[in-house]
Amino acid sequence: MTTMTGPTPVTGSVGTAHTRVEGREKVTGAARYAGDIPYAELAHGWLVLSTIARGRIRSVEADPVLAMPGVLAVLHHGNAPRVNADYTGLLGRPDPTVAVFQHDRVPFAGWPVALVVAETSEQAREAADALVVRYDEEPHDVAFFAGHPGSYTPENGRAQPETSKGDIEAELAASAVVVDAEYTTPQEHHSALEPHAAMARWDSGRLEVVDSNQGSTWVAEELAKLFSLDPSSVRVRSEHVGGAFGSKGVRPHQVLAVMATTVLHRPVRVVLTRRQLFSLVGYRSPTAQRVRLGADADGRLRALDHEALSLTSKVYEFLEPSAAVGRVMYDADAHHTVNRVVALDVPTPTWMRAPGAAPGSFALECALDELAEKCGMDPIALRARNEPNAGPVSGAPFSSRNVLACFQEGARRFGWADRDPRPGLRREGRWLLGTGTAAATHPSGVAPSTASVTAECDGTFTVRITAADIGTGARTALTLIAAEALEVEPERVRVRIADSDFGPAMVAGGSMGTRSWAWAVTSAVRELRERLVPGGGIPPEGITARSNTTEAVGALPMLERHSFGAQFAEVAVDETTGEVRVRRMLGIFAAGRIVNPLTARSQLVGGMIWGLSMALHEEAVRDQASGALVGADLAGYHFAANADVPLVEADWVDDPDEEDPVGGIKGIGEVSIVGAAAAIANAVWHATGVRHRHLPIRPDRVL
Ligand code: MOS
Repeated sequence: MTTMTGPTPVTGSVGTAHTRVEGREKVTGAARYAGDIPYAELAHGWLVLSTIARGRIRSVEADPVLAMPGVLAVLHHGNAPRVNADYTGLLGRPDPTVAVFQHDRVPFAGWPVALVVAETSEQAREAADALVVRYDEEPHDVAFFAGHPGSYTPENGRAQPETSKGDIEAELAASAVVVDAEYTTPQEHHSALEPHAAMARWDSGRLEVVDSNQGSTWVAEELAKLFSLDPSSVRVRSEHVGGAFGSKGVRPHQVLAVMATTVLHRPVRVVLTRRQLFSLVGYRSPTAQRVRLGADADGRLRALDHEALSLTSKVYEFLEPSAAVGRVMYDADAHHTVNRVVALDVPTPTWMRAPGAAPGSFALECALDELAEKCGMDPIALRARNEPNAGPVSGAPFSSRNVLACFQEGARRFGWADRDPRPGLRREGRWLLGTGTAAATHPSGVAPSTASVTAECDGTFTVRITAADIGTGARTALTLIAAEALEVEPERVRVRIADSDFGPAMVAGGSMGTRSWAWAVTSAVRELRERLVPGGGIPPEGITARSNTTEAVGALPMLERHSFGAQFAEVAVDETTGEVRVRRMLGIFAAGRIVNPLTARSQLVGGMIWGLSMALHEEAVRDQASGALVGADLAGYHFAANADVPLVEADWVDDPDEEDPVGGIKGIGEVSIVGAAAAIANAVWHATGVRHRHLPIRPDRVL
């Protein structure tokens, strides 16, 4: 375990495997999710989505539906409350697609055109099915293809679209070995176990929303701005969340629940169906990427050029930063990365586990494997030769960079040393066998957060922070972090999360949640410890200390702080059917100080499985004629099921980061999907001798 200054570690806190503090509630059903909680007078909203991809709504034939049993209202652009979508929120200006029912334009197939509200959800659903909406259809363009020039808006600021150093063409021309390859990844979809759901009601002049989100402060602030409310008059809670990885921010259903409760003066809940998720909650854009690598004969990179194209909607520019992964991983004499988008008549994409890095690492790490083959080098040795001393683009030092330690430990455990690098040699009946590897990386940032800690008069402590536990075990991690800081057993600490009344905090996203919240919690504990006098009494209301890390975050030195990893995969390819079966995966990560080994391992394994799913299964197909997705449900959209998932092992190496004011905690949420698909694709090459540069690696592509 990393040593750190500060409180002495307490047995059973940080670094100790701990089952979820709310585990019993979850498995007994006592934990209630947003769609489960009963309310008196609750009304139910059911969404009606557009059947055209572009055009105008001519009419919404509400009258027949209003006469149906239990129906209370039909909201649409003609009668819905107006919202203010012209503001800058936590994450910039809002995607106009959350400003629903404000106009008659239809920007994509599956756009909300009406909300039917009824006494029961069954009545609402029946009436929504019966509602007739007439359209004036216009031609649409939904075709995404690799040859599109694409563009970017320079001021689309948070994602730096383009970086450049040196003369790429000259270095390529001077290179002994060149790889120039195009890769594509398909559109991939969010489908959390718990679909999005929100209840809204007015309670003594305050708007209360019970939701399933990644950040209750975030949702509260956005709703306050949209509905022009004083932020203090909006309270959002999201106690339990059944999965989220970029899709659970502000979405149309919360906005609609607020509109409906405002109109009807009673609580209204809107729950999305699994099919509705496919157009309403964001997805990962398809990508078309070109990677050009030029190297000396010994594998040293002279040129690294990564160009990535993704799509966005016509109303909002969302950039999938696939080319950004090379800015951290490898330096070269000439270095160029660019992310471009093409705007189409489709829903706006969003963040999905390791935005950019997941598809980008597929291209870059496969290209590295191709370069290793051409140089006659071991893929790990090639990566070792190109280890940078500082950020290849930023020039800033790495806080710690233990990617080679991951490769060493992974190679040892995987049995890499015995590998014959030549492809297509190993056979077991009709199965061709191969192994592959790839590197992983993801930034480990930190964002301002607030927290409070109360010393209760019964000797326990209560932590309050607007964190979100999206299934990762965040509540448990924060319990261990607080216990360590307080130097008490975790059993004496109660952590309350996901209530915007606790004050602003980072969302559960960007692999920044635990790190950001840990800083706020430990700062509040430090404050509290100064106020607690040994032997001093504690009043009935307890003693509370608060923290706000805004200043401390702002004062951080410029460093490249990332989690790293090495992925290994073994595959068997059926030469008669083209089926690829993954036999085992091993991921070794360098991800700072691991707070809870039990849930950390689960999270890392989960990311690797998602990578497997990305490599072999996931693919959404948009029909050019209708502009809608084909098979937008879990029958039509394939992902890895239990039978597809073999032995998947995740572990980590020491990754001390002693100067870190947050005690060396990094992010682990996203790094483990990065490189996983590349390791599998590289293993498929090793098995078959054929490069697969287009995901997913379907049987028809293998044959
Ligand atoms: Mo984000 S893709 O929810 O870390």
